[in-house]
Amino acid sequence: MQTAKNRTRKLLREYTSLAPTYDQRWSTYIDASLSMTLKTVAGLPARRILDVACGTGLWLEILAQQYSDAALFGVDRVPAMLEVAQRRLGQRATLLEADAAELPFESGRFQLVTTTNALHYFADVPATLTEIRRVLDPSGNLVITDWCRDYLWMKVLNRVLPWTRHAHGHTLGRSELEQNLVSAGFELVDSKTKKIDGFWALMTVHARPAGMT
Ligand SMILES: C[S@@+](CC[C@H](N)C(=O)[O-])C[C@H]1O[C@@H](n2cnc3c(N)ncnc32)[C@H](O)[C@@H]1O
Repeated sequence: MQTAKNRTRKLLREYTSLAPTYDQRWSTYIDASLSMTLKTVAGLPARRILDVACGTGLWLEILAQQYSDAALFGVDRVPAMLEVAQRRLGQRATLLEADAAELPFESGRFQLVTTTNALHYFADVPATLTEIRRVLDPSGNLVITDWCRDYLWMKVLNRVLPWTRHAHGHTLGRSELEQNLVSAGFELVDSKTKKIDGFWALMTVHARPAGMT
């Protein structure tokens, strides 16, 4: 069993060395996962948007095109990834080094929170979703895209990766994520899954704070 400290050390090591080449190395996967996310996000109203685990800022750059008047924020745990994001986004987004489970924002500040391709790293998914719920406006929206464990190869990866140098935490299945969201005070709006390149299986789940309809 990996300790939280071990996982953080692995995360910092993995993404500090990956940061300079991340965009090129993962471009096919990133394009597919972000366009899947965009289909769900398109049209959701927002004046302030937070991307949790923003990495090199590729998704924030898409959000900047979609939401030209919105204030954009990104947090990530790895400074080297944020440096790439900062070069990409300049003054267009406010970027902060922070853990997804301890967001440095007042409650109810965002109309839209997103996180893409990162949930499987989070050490404590229930606590992280509760924290996201805290910073989300009660009438806001949350959109998550991540690996989906409902498919064979993702099950295999979920078993193997914790034994490697990868900082992997745990890959959720779609209904498992949905249950976690409900427990954290969300209600589900929509969810979908998609396979990429015959290997990667992704899910996008859209939720909002419960009790707003
Ligand atoms: C696969 S990258 C995805 C980056 C970006 N969201 C994208 O879709 O291209 C995973 C990112 O999650 C970040 N990350 C992992 N665990 C985190 C945590 N607990 N808090 C904040 N960032 C985290 C990593 O530093 C890395 O930048």
